[in-house]
Order: sequence, then structure tokens, then C-alpha cells
Amino acid sequence: AEKMAPEDLLCSYKGVLYPVTHCSAETFKALESFEARSDDVLLVGYPKTGTNWIVHILRDLVTTSAKKNEEEMKRMKQDEEIVEYTYLEFGDPGKFQRIKKLSSRRVFATHVFPHMLPTSIFKNNVKILMVIRNPKDIAVSYFHFSNSIPSLPSFKTWDEFFNAFLNGKVSWGSYFDHIIEWNKHFDDENIMFITYEELKENSNLGVKKIAEFFGFSVTNEESQAVADRNSFQTMKENSHKTHGAFGNVLFRKGSVSDWKNLFTEAQNQEMDKKFEESLAGTKLGA
Ligand code: A3P
Repeated sequence: AEKMAPEDLLCSYKGVLYPVTHCSAETFKALESFEARSDDVLLVGYPKTGTNWIVHILRDLVTTSAKKNEEEMKRMKQDEEIVEYTYLEFGDPGKFQRIKKLSSRRVFATHVFPHMLPTSIFKNNVKILMVIRNPKDIAVSYFHFSNSIPSLPSFKTWDEFFNAFLNGKVSWGSYFDHIIEWNKHFDDENIMFITYEELKENSNLGVKKIAEFFGFSVTNEESQAVADRNSFQTMKENSHKTHGAFGNVLFRKGSVSDWKNLFTEAQNQEMDKKFEESLAGTKLGA
């Protein structure tokens, strides 16, 4: 598809850049008064940290537990008719009225900073899973992604993207600011951090940790099945059904340390420095 002029692709809300084809100031505004339920399942992650993967795991956990309960399963079938964006800030502002009709447990994701979320999320102690990933791999993933989809500005060179990423001049703002802000919630009782790398390394264990945190009771066989159904290979193979043509772009490599193919040694050091400065003295930085 043709891209719009780069200057028309992004707008900013409360200082954070967002893609105008997916989001609007009206939806961000409406999100601020969205009533979260205490049993909502919320995933927070900067773009390219593996959010689509984990959303699928979370949905699978909801379905897996619902299968033990016929009534709940029936309700979920009805919910499927309410097609909505999972990402809270995506879509039209009217969506918040419609998602009120969804039965529990609802699964949502978001790329935003904590100050852009409704206070109901914190007031109702909604459980939040925060995914983090090596920022070097995020940057490489984001570079390829930006050049492959019509809704984001393209970058002629990797160096150009690297500088934009480091300075927060990309959609969803600075990864470093994002992690600094969310890191302030590190000790909140209702938040759990997981890394892309640990989930990739041992998916069954990762799924078990996620299930336990949200209070889904699954057997070892069930968590293994969830991990397998959501492996990179399986998700990539099914992506035409689940994500349409977007699947080819989204399921790119799904690996750890791809950054080594693009980073120069100077860039490597520059990002290490930025990362250390951002998280110095915090538990997350340790
Ligand atoms: P790469 O571009 O490095 O391959 P998001 O969903 O937040 O946009 O993140 C996309 C990244 O997650 C992509 O990284 C994609 O390949 C990876 N990914 C998607 N599904 C995955 C899976 N099942 N297992 C591992 N990585 C996955």
C-alpha cells in the first residue's frame, strides 16, 4: 500500500507520538474515563516487545480455563461477535461503550505510558503484565516493521532509525521513557514483569508464571499446550487466518540477538549507555 506523507502519519497526544491511521486524540481522551474491571487482564508493552504473542497466550489461557465451564464458554462465543481492538488506544472512541458488553475476563493490551491510562485500572487493582525486551532487538524489529507497514514513517537507513529510536522520535515515544515510567510501578502488588527472552527460552515456564499471576489454574499439560499453540512457528503458519496479510510483516524472525546483524560497535555502546542511564539505581536496572 502507498504511504501517506511522513509528516501526516504521526500526531502527538500528551507528548507521545502515535499513528493517526490507528489512533486518535478522541480515543485517548475516552480511554481516560474507561471503567476497568478488577478481573481484566492487561498487558503493557512498548511496540515490538512481543505483545501480539502474549495477547494470544492470554486469550488462550482464558479459553483454556473457560473450557472447564460450559456457561462461560457460551458467553465467550457471544463475545466473539463484538469485534474490537484489543489495544486500548486503537480504534474509535465509541469502542469503550461496546466493550462494556464483553464478559469477563476481558484481555486488553496497551503501548501507552501509565499517565495515559484510566485511574480505574490502578484504583481497581487490575493485574498488569509488563513485557520487556532487549531494546537493541526492539530497535531492529521496529526498523523493519516501520519500513514494511503503511501506517508508520519509513527510514532510508538503519542509522537514521537508530537515532530516531534513541531520541524517542518514533511512534509511541521513547522506549527509555516508557520503561522509566513503568519502572516506577515495579513494586506494585498487581504488576508482574516478564522478559521476551525468558518467555522464548522456556515458554512452558513463562506461561505457567503468567497463569499463576492472573489466577488461571492450568495443569502442566495445559500450559505446555498453550506454549506450543503460540510458538513462533505455529503462529507464523496460522498468521493468514489470525492476522491476514499483516501476518507476513509481524512474524518476522522471532529470535533473540538479531541486533548483532545491524548494530555497529559504536551504536552498541551508545545504547548500553542510554539504557544504564535510564535505569541506574533501580531494581530493573540491576
Ligand atoms: P521480530 O521483528 O524480532 O521478529 P509486537 O507483537 O509487540 O509488535 O512484537 C513483534 C515481535 O514479536 C516480532 O519480533 C515478532 O517476530 C515477535 N513474535 C511474534 N510472535 C512471536 C512468538 N510466537 N514467539 C516469539 N516471538 C514472536
